[in-house]
Amino acid sequence: MKTLDVVLGLQWGDEGKGKIVDVLAERYPVVARFQGGPNAGHSIHFGNTSFVLHSVPSGVFREGSINIIGNGVVLDPTIFREECQAIEALGVPVRERVKIAKRTNLIVPTHKLLDAADEAALGKSKIGSTLKGIGPAYSDKTGRNGLRVGDILGGDFKEKYDILKHKHMLRLGQYDFTFPFDLEKAEEQWFRDAEYIKGFDIIDGEYEVNSLLGSDKAILAEGAQGSMLDVDFGSYPFVTSSSTACAGACTGLGVAPSRIGKVYGVFKAYCTRVGSGPFPTELGDATGELMRQRGHEFGATTGRPRRTGWLDIPALKFAVMLSGVTELVMMKADVLDGFETVRVACGYRVDGVRTDRVPYDVYAEVEPVYKEFKGWKCDLENCRREEDLPAEFMEYIRYIEREVGVPISILSLGPDRDQTIIRK
Ligand code: IMO
Ligand code: MG
Repeated sequence: MKTLDVVLGLQWGDEGKGKIVDVLAERYPVVARFQGGPNAGHSIHFGNTSFVLHSVPSGVFREGSINIIGNGVVLDPTIFREECQAIEALGVPVRERVKIAKRTNLIVPTHKLLDAADEAALGKSKIGSTLKGIGPAYSDKTGRNGLRVGDILGGDFKEKYDILKHKHMLRLGQYDFTFPFDLEKAEEQWFRDAEYIKGFDIIDGEYEVNSLLGSDKAILAEGAQGSMLDVDFGSYPFVTSSSTACAGACTGLGVAPSRIGKVYGVFKAYCTRVGSGPFPTELGDATGELMRQRGHEFGATTGRPRRTGWLDIPALKFAVMLSGVTELVMMKADVLDGFETVRVACGYRVDGVRTDRVPYDVYAEVEPVYKEFKGWKCDLENCRREEDLPAEFMEYIRYIEREVGVPISILSLGPDRDQTIIRK
């Protein structure tokens, strides 16, 4: 019996989960997404090809792979169809490689309208949602109103859709909100795309996943977003609407906690956040701008410039605690090449009191307490073995390992598959 190993983002999303899943997929015949939806943007680079995945698991480019969209995901048929066609255009047999759980909830066009209306109503305190309809779709799921992939196969799909749409229209009518959106056109397309989904293997995800594990197929669960955006433990309400921590892989795929094996926690050597909400180590100065430019920190889903700042150890420890991370994966340290000094928040001062806990209050005054490191002034991008890494950089990563108490087993020093050091 194989274990379910999990890849998670430990920060505010955009840690580089897509690249790591693609690299690890060499060892995992099955990759499964367990939460989130097309708010995710997982970038993969190999050879001259770059691709951003939103709904399809990042194992899809590996020959012979099985890629499961799990029940915990919310799926937008239109975005899914566009994505699959773009993958197919690269010569990848996407229908052979992707399977979808029946219990996966669907995003309908009015979810996007509700998302936009909710955000407009919040005004200055908006969440900065990706406007993909994520929050409203999960609300309908837990409110027991949702439509699921399995419903597409039923004869009463259109009726179910109309009931849901009616509820949405009633709600939308209460908002003082207009948005340039051709609902009728979007709906027609949406129904065609729901039909398109029928061309895929629609499965009982929980049975399939457990029987794959039972037949000795290792599965890698691919998280979306990050721990600090978790609906319970993130900086609520500036969060996404799903469980981004390890436990989400159990409910989002139908796998028991005792089946979890390795938990890979992915983090960048610095931090970024897109959308609103607290970000204690945010820079907002020339150094922050340099990180943004060097790291190409612009949203893969929305194109928005990402907020940038130094690595935040209290947040990292919090994420590791929540998910029982067994191995750390550090991304993009090469972005900091050439910096004179590199800083890390080793604690906070919250309302003047020193702590290393992430505060409950999102409006608390959090002042990071920094530790400074000498910059490594060389091109990490060209390092392919641990022996090539400069002493200053080794000091930086050993400090993180000591503080967090988990080894960094993978270092990614550039976007390409081969710019990866697997440590012993
Ligand atoms: P990946 O998987 C970064 C952020 C949004 C917003 C908040 C809520 O690429 O790491 P939502 O659309 O979920 O209602 O938005 O969460 N957000 C992400 N930020 N990476 C992501 O995904 C994100 N998915 C959502 O910017 O602040
Ligand atoms: Mg992203």
